[in-house]
Amino acid sequence: MKTLLRSVLGQTVIWRALRQMKRAVTRAQPAPPADPRDAVVTWLNPPPAAEAKAALDAKLRVEHVAHPAAVRCRWLTRFGTPFDAEPTTVPLPRPPFPHASEEVTVRVPTPDVVGDFTLEIDLVRGGELVEAARGVRVGLPVVGPRATDIDYHSVYRTANLDENHWWVVGAYHSKAEYEKSSRERLGMLTGFGLTPDSHVLDVGCGTGQMAGAMLDYLTPRGRYAGTDIGVEAIRFCNRTFRRPNFAFEVGGLTTVPFAENGTFDLAIFFSVFTHTFADETALLLAEAKRLLKPGGVIIADVITSELVERGAGHRGEMVVNKDHFLRLAAMLGYTAEVLGRWPWNRHAERFMFKLRPQ
Ligand SMILES: C[S@@+](CC[C@H](N)C(=O)[O-])C[C@H]1O[C@@H](n2cnc3c(N)ncnc32)[C@H](O)[C@@H]1O
Repeated sequence: MKTLLRSVLGQTVIWRALRQMKRAVTRAQPAPPADPRDAVVTWLNPPPAAEAKAALDAKLRVEHVAHPAAVRCRWLTRFGTPFDAEPTTVPLPRPPFPHASEEVTVRVPTPDVVGDFTLEIDLVRGGELVEAARGVRVGLPVVGPRATDIDYHSVYRTANLDENHWWVVGAYHSKAEYEKSSRERLGMLTGFGLTPDSHVLDVGCGTGQMAGAMLDYLTPRGRYAGTDIGVEAIRFCNRTFRRPNFAFEVGGLTTVPFAENGTFDLAIFFSVFTHTFADETALLLAEAKRLLKPGGVIIADVITSELVERGAGHRGEMVVNKDHFLRLAAMLGYTAEVLGRWPWNRHAERFMFKLRPQ
């Protein structure tokens, strides 16, 4: 009834005139006098993410500053605690006037490690926070330097794999070092249950580091299936590792191109989840589960950091939160065991996990 009355009244000339008067009066109200202490900082150009070990130019607008002050930018970890880097403090360029606004660009060095950070921007005076000032906090994932990002398709397309197959897949200083690493990995796998008759799935096999190591290790009863997103890498493996029980197929980012469900004893992901986003990792783990036989296991390494909430980084180096990775694995029905852990940087570790479907 009330709505009906309002819609009928709303059509009348008097009602419309009254409404227009009300609007005009409201518009004409003077702005409440700003408290001169009530300074406001606005970040005008926050980026969606920042690059580690670099600097970002934060364009700021500072309003209602009554006395000389400085802008202080500091990084907070995802726990809200200050990150262990010096804050950047820049005095406002001119003595600001009350009620006036200044625009200032502050060059802020970014954290040297990957993580989910917050940039906190405040006004300070004599080194003390201006309590009444309203600063700003913006959550910002910090990913690795752009120069360290990797597009494996273009790496493989442009490399001469016959010459360079050993350096495109890792930070090896020589072919001998690459081959030593593959022998060590083979030794580790035999320690974790690999036998000459095992059926091995190698996801992200690259240029066949482990295929080379297994060539003379696996018997004809054993089997090796390698897959990678790199077409040229798979072509290289197919012409280099020729055995009736060795197969190589190009896979998708989240799919493994083998149909023999429940037949593999071991699935290895060596330096693969260090290049995939968390959702892709989860889908690849689901693929491995489809292909493993009962009692089969995955061996995989990840880079972990407490400074990351879930996953942060780029395809050159992906860093995950260990608990998040283990939660994803548990959701897919895996139990996890730590096989090894190594320092990666001052805030990150590299873990080798064994995952077993329950
Ligand atoms: C650092 S290399 C390691 C290669 C090999 N596992 C080794 O240890 O020598 C990473 C490999 O993972 C592959 N890769 C990246 N993302 C992938 C994905 N979603 N599925 C399959 N392979 C992937 C890359 O093409 C590259 O060959």
